[in-house]
Amino acid sequence: MRGRSERLTGVSSFVHGIFWGVIFSVLPLWFTSSFDDSPWSNPLACQQLATIIPVPILNTDRSLHAVRRFNPRKNGVFIMPMFDQPTVLMCPPDFYGIEYEINPWMSRGVPSDAEQSRRQWQALHDILFGLGVDIRLMEPVKGLPDLVFTANAGLMWHNEVFLAAFRHSARQPETPVDADWFRSAGFETVSLPSPLNFEGAGDALFCGDTLFGGYLVRSDASAIQWLGTHMKCRVIPLQLVDDHYYHLDTCFCPLDATTALYYPPAFDDYARRALSHIPRLIAVCPEEASRFACNAVVVGRNVVMNTGCPQLEADLTQFGFIPHSTPLDEFLKAGGSAKCLTLRLDGEEAAIWP
Ligand code: ARG
Repeated sequence: MRGRSERLTGVSSFVHGIFWGVIFSVLPLWFTSSFDDSPWSNPLACQQLATIIPVPILNTDRSLHAVRRFNPRKNGVFIMPMFDQPTVLMCPPDFYGIEYEINPWMSRGVPSDAEQSRRQWQALHDILFGLGVDIRLMEPVKGLPDLVFTANAGLMWHNEVFLAAFRHSARQPETPVDADWFRSAGFETVSLPSPLNFEGAGDALFCGDTLFGGYLVRSDASAIQWLGTHMKCRVIPLQLVDDHYYHLDTCFCPLDATTALYYPPAFDDYARRALSHIPRLIAVCPEEASRFACNAVVVGRNVVMNTGCPQLEADLTQFGFIPHSTPLDEFLKAGGSAKCLTLRLDGEEAAIWP
């Protein structure tokens, strides 16, 4: 597996920097130099340009954010990158609540508190915003309490989104709402063939150029295979064996192309063996797994998650990541936490898209 850090450093970043530098700065200058009032003949303009030109060249991390999703070979079509900064979809919790029970964490007898949910959601939003994330909002819909969990809306891939086909009827009406949002935002929506069940980025996560897919509880193994065929990428289906960890993103979290968090008892033996090919695996302990430690949002080297995971915070720090904890207990009542409340529209941090 190629590491993203490997791709971002050295010769390739230098070449990308020069490429974007030439495109954005030098070519327009060359073009305008044929005019009489060319910037070349104006000393002030020359001075300003001298400060502008190196920016795209030196600011390789930012220009690379645009190019890392850029795949000119996809279908032979030239695709412009849609984002130049980490971009996340969230849905305010206006109609969030525990109205049905579709996983072991949910009990109508333990309702969520509307005020507290709003505060916790807002705090997560503000942390991400503070980390430089562009946050897009989806309009909440009455009667769809789990629409807040945008991770399940679909799996992003370049300008396409593979829409969810929810197992439980209670969540099925979310899909047309999600589809409308994606189309109005300029994405191409793709539905998996019926009757496959698939629950979006909740069950499908890239670590490097490999797509890991959780199956059995919610998504079907053949849905994961279908995605691999469509994207022409390697897929590793992982069987989930504990209903408490019913979505892959509740027990597995790629941090970069070669590092991931996981909760071993949530997987069968074969899945654990398949996961062991990831070069750096950080196991989460049972108490912290039940605090949804693995349900973290990754932005660069920052990892945002629920409170109550001191061991994981220490491990992350040791591996060069920066943990940010924020209370999300109101969402744990529905079986969700930080990651479930977000969908990375430009692709997860650890993903290297084929
Ligand atoms: N109550 C929701 C469900 O059971 C929670 C979804 C959490 N989302 C996730 N990506 N894990 O479907």
